[in-house]
Amino acid sequence: MPIVVNDLRDYLKWLEDQGKLIRIDKPLSPVLEIPHFLRRIMYAKGPAVLFENIKGYPGWRIAGNIFPDLETFAKVLGVNTLEEIGERFTESISSAPPTRLREKISRLWEVKELASFLPKRVRKAGFQDNVIERDPLDKIPAFKTWPLDGGRYITLGLVVTRNPETGITNMGIYRVMIKDSHRAVIHWQIHKRGSHAFREAVERNEELPVAVVIGADPATIFTGVAPVPYPLDKLLFAGIVRGKGLEVVELENGLMVPANAEIVIEGRVQLSKLENEGPFGDHWGFYDMPIEKYPVLAVDRIYHRNNPIYVGTIVGLPPLEDAVIGKAVERVFLPIMKTIFPEIVEVSFPVHGVFQGLMIVSIKKKYPGHGKKIMMGLWGIGQTSLTKMIIVVDHFINPHDINQVIWAVTSFADPARDVVVLDNVHTDALDPTSKAHGVGAKLGIDATVKVEEESGREPPLIVSPDLDVERKIEKLLLELGIRGDDPWKKVAKEYIDTIRAWLGVRGSYTRYHD
Ligand SMILES: Cc1cc2nc3c(=O)[nH]c(=O)nc-3n(C[C@H](O)[C@H](O)[C@H](O)COP(=O)(O)O)c2cc1C
Repeated sequence: MPIVVNDLRDYLKWLEDQGKLIRIDKPLSPVLEIPHFLRRIMYAKGPAVLFENIKGYPGWRIAGNIFPDLETFAKVLGVNTLEEIGERFTESISSAPPTRLREKISRLWEVKELASFLPKRVRKAGFQDNVIERDPLDKIPAFKTWPLDGGRYITLGLVVTRNPETGITNMGIYRVMIKDSHRAVIHWQIHKRGSHAFREAVERNEELPVAVVIGADPATIFTGVAPVPYPLDKLLFAGIVRGKGLEVVELENGLMVPANAEIVIEGRVQLSKLENEGPFGDHWGFYDMPIEKYPVLAVDRIYHRNNPIYVGTIVGLPPLEDAVIGKAVERVFLPIMKTIFPEIVEVSFPVHGVFQGLMIVSIKKKYPGHGKKIMMGLWGIGQTSLTKMIIVVDHFINPHDINQVIWAVTSFADPARDVVVLDNVHTDALDPTSKAHGVGAKLGIDATVKVEEESGREPPLIVSPDLDVERKIEKLLLELGIRGDDPWKKVAKEYIDTIRAWLGVRGSYTRYHD
């Protein structure tokens, strides 16, 4: 089923009908006050909020915490689980002409089944009703979240670019720092697609047209965070997430942007100028230091709908709204990761590891060294290459159960043999431990059970009850009304099945468990 709402207004009404939105009419400022309110709501796992009385910005409204939880996001997308969105994408790839993955992705436009997901160009959009050319950045209620932030920031804007080399349109959520009434600095990190487009423009010595889109339907906003495989156009990807094509309209600078936007900032990134960006209190919970230089967006004009709704999010010590957004990425991209690495069974990015910090992945281990092989694969592609720590466990360990993971790490990982440390490699630019901007170290722990070729001995013999005794005692417990499953039953059984499959008729597993 396609997404059940058309734009942000529809979505907010739908949230209200679900009991997932509150309205606040008390006058509050976007400088510190609304961000603080939203932070408390997010920690309380509360609803979305529509602020209707913005101090200093008459006629404007602000929506926040618009991704209150995963279930609500799946429901508005018309799916039972978010994995279905990833499957929509992998099914499209498998019906693409049989070539290499990269070519398949770039030829997705040609696949007939995808026709309904393609962007549709329209001539007029609601946001074109109002244009501000005088001091435009002073007119929007962008947030200042933390007292020492270097200024006001647009925190949930889709930064739209077209790569001058490939013609591929990108929409990435990167924070945008307002410098003055006409200029802003865009914090697209070096590995991100907006930054690729910028570097391409620098090589050609051409100014780069840029738009920042604020407020759209939730699927389109989500597309800005999605680590979409490189050659895929995000306007098409938005159509895949929405389950129907996105209507787009052309700006004066030639970019196509979502027609359902509330606010659109139109401008150009100048090639010669880089300016200080920050300080900014980021999602690790620290002010992002040292201050780095990023490109400057010269704003020509801002368009907005009547009685516009600005949308912002806030970051700080986890878990805040980006935890929900990050978990949505984890779920949507699991089927896509499985297509690239078929041995992957499950993946978890624990929210307190802020996504770039820690990834736990379970695999169906097939050969000696497989645990380290998957680490290297993940560190070698896309945005998982930014992950600081990877723990690999076997398929019978649930990566979302941190206690099972601790048991696997302590039981199966030998610190001298199963730990990988890489130094002087690229890292997430925000990592507070990096020795230089975007350069630091990585840790991998192979917590899979080791086969004899790796450890020189048979895997340890796991305890499991005598079957006859188990049946008898379970019956008795039931009669006594004592509930609660054996938490290790499934793990122990799958462990035994795995080891037996590895050892075949050899070894103690056959002797003890027949
Ligand atoms: C609230 C929020 C803020 C973000 N801010 C930034 C940022 O300032 N710079 C950046 O490079 N990525 C930022 N990201 C992550 C990107 O949105 C994410 O890596 C995305 O996949 C980039 O897409 P791209 O492949 O189109 O570049 C942020 C994500 C969220 C949820």
